Amino acid sequence: MELRGPRVRLRLLVEADFGELSRLLQQPGAAPWWTDPSEMGLRAATIGAPGTVSWSVDVDGHLAGLVSAFDAGWPPGAYVGLAVALGDSWQEHGLGPEALSLVIAHIASERGVHRFTIDPAAENTRAIRAYEKLGFRRVGIMRQSEVAPDGSWRDCMLMDLLIGEFVDQATDR
Ligand SMILES: CC(C)(COP(=O)(O)OP(=O)(O)OC[C@H]1O[C@@H](n2cnc3c(N)ncnc32)[C@H](O)[C@@H]1OP(=O)(O)O)[C@@H](O)C(=O)NCCC(=O)NCCS
Repeated sequence: MELRGPRVRLRLLVEADFGELSRLLQQPGAAPWWTDPSEMGLRAATIGAPGTVSWSVDVDGHLAGLVSAFDAGWPPGAYVGLAVALGDSWQEHGLGPEALSLVIAHIASERGVHRFTIDPAAENTRAIRAYEKLGFRRVGIMRQSEVAPDGSWRDCMLMDLLIGEFVDQATDR
C-alpha cells in the first residue's frame, strides 16, 4: 500500500530499509530523539512490534525516514499512536507533517479511527511545534515515560488529535 503526497511517498517498511534508516537516525538532529537507532532496535520498534504498521518515507527517490502507527487504547485499537523520524537533510521542510498527514488520513478513512496520539520528548520543542500544525493538542506531561538514548528515563509530552481537528498538511500548496 503506497501513500502519496505532494512531496512524499510512503511505502510499507521492509527489512532492506533498516541499514539506511539506522544511519539516518544516528545523525545529530535525529539521534537525541530516538531511543535505539540500531538496526535491531528499529526492527523491534516497527515490523517486529505487534499491532504496528510502519512506512518508509521517500522523497525524490531517497529514503528520508519512517512513520509508524500502532494500536493503542481500550479496546485495543480504539485509537492509534504515531511515531516519526527523518534524517537531518529532510528536517524542517514540512515533510514530517506531510508524512503524518498521509498516515492519519489513510487510517481514519480505512478504519474510522477518530483519535490519534503522539508523545515526543518534552524537550523536543521542534517536534511539538510540528505536531501542533496538524491540530495535535498538548494533553500533558507523561513522567519518565521514555528511555533516552543514554539509558535514562525522560518525560514526554502526550499530544492528541481528534479527527475533526485534523489540519491536513499533505495538500498541494
Ligand atoms: C520532528 C520532525 C518529524 C518534524 O518534522 P519536520 O518536517 O522537520 O517539521 P516542520 O518542518 O514541518 O516543522 C518544524 C517546526 O518547528 C519549528 N522549530 C524548529 N526548531 C525549533 C525549536 N528548537 N523549537 C521550537 N520550534 C522549532 C520550525 O520553525 C517549524 O515550525 P514552522 O513551520 O511554524 O516554522 C523532524 O524534525 C524529525 O524527524 N526530527 C528528528 C527526529 C524526531 O525528533 N522525531 C520525533 C520523535 S517524537
